[in-house]
Formats: sequence, C-alpha cells, structure tokens
Amino acid sequence: MDITWLGHSTFLLELPEGQKILIDPWFEGNPSSPKGFSLPKVDTILVSHGHGDHTTDVVPIAKRDGATVVSNFEIYLWLQSKGVTTVSPMNKGGSQTVGQVKVTMTHAMHSSSMQDGDQIVYGGEPAGYIIQIPDGRRVYFAGDTAVFGDMSLIARIYKPVLAFLPIGDLYTMGPEEASIATELLGVKQVIPMHYGTFPPLTGTPAALQELVQGQGVEVLELEAGKPFTF
Ligand code: NI
Ligand code: MN
Repeated sequence: MDITWLGHSTFLLELPEGQKILIDPWFEGNPSSPKGFSLPKVDTILVSHGHGDHTTDVVPIAKRDGATVVSNFEIYLWLQSKGVTTVSPMNKGGSQTVGQVKVTMTHAMHSSSMQDGDQIVYGGEPAGYIIQIPDGRRVYFAGDTAVFGDMSLIARIYKPVLAFLPIGDLYTMGPEEASIATELLGVKQVIPMHYGTFPPLTGTPAALQELVQGQGVEVLELEAGKPFTF
C-alpha cells in the first residue's frame, strides 16, 4: 500500500485494491499540511480521538465523499449531530471490517473532547487502531498517547509490523518514551508523527532513530505529501 503523511497525525493509506483510508484528518489550519496537495475521494476515515488537530476535517470530508467514519461511540453521537450519517462506531477491544481492512480499536493514554462554540463536548476515550490490510500485515496507529505497558499486549495479540507513533513530546510521548513503545510493540519500522507542527513539539525522528538504533529499528521519516510504498 501507499502511505502518505499529510502533516501532524494525518495520513492517507491507499490499498492496491483501491480503498483509500484517511486517518485523523486535519488540513484547515495545519501548519505542516503539504502545500498544493489535493485529497482524492476517500472511502474510509479513522478518528482516534476528539481534539481539533485530529477531527477538524472529519465532517466536511465525510460529507463530501460519503466516506465511512470509524470512531468511538461518543464521537459517533457528535458526528451524527453534525449531520454525518455514515459513521460506524466501535469501542476498545472490538474489531470490524471496513471495506478491505479489518480495524481493531486499541487503548491510548490521552484525553478526548470536541470544542463546539464555547462548549467542551465529551469525546469518549482516546484510542489507537490496528489496521489489518488484505495481504495479512497489520500496522498500529497509536493516535495521541503516552507510552503504556499494555503495548506489549498489542504486540502479543496483533503482531504489528509497523507502528505510527507520536514523538513530539508535551501533549504526547517524546522520543525517549517512543523508544520504549517501539520495544514493547516489537516493531522494526516506525513512522513518527505529531512532531514539529508547532515549536513546542520538539521531538525529532533523528532523536528517536538514535535511541532505537541498537534494537535494529528503522525510523521512516516521511516527507509530507510524498507517498511511501509499504
Ligand atoms: Ni490529542
Ligand atoms: Mn493531537
């Protein structure tokens, strides 16, 4: 499949079978969004948690493309209230097949809420996803999270071969914690995300690469807007 980083934690996965999966869409106001990128019609949108840097463009893109949105139950209710009728909700530990992929919602250690005018709406619990693609490989998208010991359960049950991990620090783990996450997950390839968007998100792919060198782990620093074939 082709993986395109669209800045911050937004990714487009394009399967050879044709399905296009958008994760945590944030384009409007995203300083790390690639210039001049034109988003193709997407089939599926995965939402890890409620926070503007992950949900800002869910509603417009879901409506534009009629895409199936996968989210937790609370975000499903909120999206319904915004007129999105194509949500397929789930919760942690559960799996569902969406198009050609099987998605499992996993734990994340973070928070989750939507800002709606002057109200803060409860966004359920934050999550990550295991995505099983048609060739059987599984990848783990951690969402926003601290490192947590039960990443070893994710490794034991799902055996992901690639992890998307936040490394920016401050709101999520930084490189030091991400190096332990990598070890717990048993992955040999990591795509870093949620870094460099704003000056306080100081973690860098180079810092993570240095820490995981000894584990034989490769940090794939993607260039925003440029597809990477996995
Ligand atoms: Ni967040
Ligand atoms: Mn975030």
